[in-house]
Amino acid sequence: MQHKFLITEISSILILLTFLNCTNSTESKSSGAITQVKSQEPLPKCEWCGAMDAPEELSWSTTIADENEPGERLVLNGTVFNQDGTPAAGVLIYAYHTNLQGIYEKKGDETGNGKRHGHLRGWVRTDAQGRYQFKTIKPAAYPSRSEPAHVHFTLSAADMPEYWIKSTLFDDDPLITSGMRADNDKGKFARILSLTKNDGVWVGERDIKLKK
Ligand SMILES: [Fe+2]
Repeated sequence: MQHKFLITEISSILILLTFLNCTNSTESKSSGAITQVKSQEPLPKCEWCGAMDAPEELSWSTTIADENEPGERLVLNGTVFNQDGTPAAGVLIYAYHTNLQGIYEKKGDETGNGKRHGHLRGWVRTDAQGRYQFKTIKPAAYPSRSEPAHVHFTLSAADMPEYWIKSTLFDDDPLITSGMRADNDKGKFARILSLTKNDGVWVGERDIKLKK
């Protein structure tokens, strides 16, 4: 009798242990799966896009880097024009660039293409006059010094899929090649900017004509 009771008790313990093990295993699989999902969260297929990450509410002016970001202050201004020369209102401009070390620095909480482009990025929507403005820092060239320092821009609008335009460069950059200078648009549409300094802040102007 006592022997039978012991077997029953051991069986109960085994069942309980099996149950606990299953539960733990499920939890561990479950949390593992969550970790996996996070780490394998697919990056956007388009490596250079950023319009899909834009906040819903946009102004014609935004701050990419605040005063805590090391580097020289820079304001990029300009106007976007339609092909007929009229100002293009409502155009979404996405801009991103490297930090003072020439790196697309990540803070760790980036989403979408921020995981590629880092935290120094921003969005504006041109106003009725077609104007835009980015307040940020002057970026540095990649550590490899393979390219001049630059700010990437993409443009998009309701009736215009996002497209990439040549990045903005800075005239005093020794990494700018003669080929780049020869290829530079003239006048206000030039992408190689001659910056002026105003109250300690570099200011650059780049107007943009929408593609056909
Ligand atoms: Fe780049």
